Amino acid sequence: MKIPFIDLAAQQAHLQPEIDARMQQVLAHGQYIMGPEVGELEQALADFVGGGFVIGVSSGTDALLMALLALGVGRGDAVFVPAFTFTATAEVVLLLGATPVFVDVCEDSCNLDPEDLERRIAQVTRSGALRPKAVIAVDLYGLPADYPRLRAVTDTHGLRLIGDGAQSLSASCQGRQVGRLADVTATSFFPAKPLGCFGDGGAVFTCDHALAETLRSIRAHGKGTEKYDIVRVGVNGRLDTLQAAVLLAKLPALRAEQSRREQLSRRYDAALAGAARLPARGEAYVSAWAQYTIQIPRRDRLQQQLSEAGIPTQIYYPRPMHLQPAYRPYGGGEGSLPVAERLSQTVLSLPMHPYMPGDVADYICEQLSQIVSAYAEG
Ligand SMILES: Cc1ncc(COP(=O)(O)O)c(C=O)c1O
Repeated sequence: MKIPFIDLAAQQAHLQPEIDARMQQVLAHGQYIMGPEVGELEQALADFVGGGFVIGVSSGTDALLMALLALGVGRGDAVFVPAFTFTATAEVVLLLGATPVFVDVCEDSCNLDPEDLERRIAQVTRSGALRPKAVIAVDLYGLPADYPRLRAVTDTHGLRLIGDGAQSLSASCQGRQVGRLADVTATSFFPAKPLGCFGDGGAVFTCDHALAETLRSIRAHGKGTEKYDIVRVGVNGRLDTLQAAVLLAKLPALRAEQSRREQLSRRYDAALAGAARLPARGEAYVSAWAQYTIQIPRRDRLQQQLSEAGIPTQIYYPRPMHLQPAYRPYGGGEGSLPVAERLSQTVLSLPMHPYMPGDVADYICEQLSQIVSAYAEG
């Protein structure tokens, strides 16, 4: 049995008629740039998260970049980002000439630690070299960050709160959907994400009308009311019409897909109970389950044994941001962000996708319990 880590082909087969019809419509009208599907998708996404404004853009990275641009982040600003995330979260800060300040994460959720955030804000304020400006909260593996506590911190210090929801569309915290938890939220439609297109794509969510207008302008080279009236520095950050069409075909299935992922996560929990640190769950939280990620000492041993059983795994991420060669100048080196450093040694993600056949899930769970129960005996 060949088990894929993520099975995009199975999803595609499931939704093929809708996808084909939507793509054919675009080929028929030929408006490949900012065709009607882009606006239709933006409205459908706003409805999906329960309101606000949505701007379809070219990728999750560009969504973050445009969010920071719209908030006026630039030279001299400190932007607080988790040390345990995908590169894009920190990269966009530096591209705008601002400085990333790495913050440690919580051991259970793998998300930004509000207490460490307080400490780092105090350090930056004391040193006086940078202006604390914004916080980027990442919803790692699909689990929303602790937005209620992060919001309290950003309100106290007058900072803007940005959500990096690249992995968490369809998740919620205290009944509020990702997209409505921060001042502005970026998501990604990279194919392997909970809602993925057939290439690169992303979106920005905000409830602030003026910010949404600024983002629409930034997406189109900073245009004003006329195409050749340039009122600010922007980028070419548009979402392709064809990608919007694919997403329109896939969006109606997203809630059902989220609950299939949730069911699989419960099966993994049962198979692994007591043998590894399981992904955090909170009563107030619904995860998008982009990944099912455990923490286990001697990770390589389990990865090897699963691989021998034909079960693929991934490590997100093997190195924290502050120890990446490109970001070392902005961090305190080894030992400065201990939880992020520990997680990079212990996390392991198991196959996770909504269309996993029952017999495959049975096989993975059987193998998992056999392997980890042997650890307990040994
Ligand atoms: C946490 C996080 N932020 C940002 C991104 C960037 O998204 P994209 O690949 O669409 O640019 C990703 C994508 O992997 C991500 O996981």
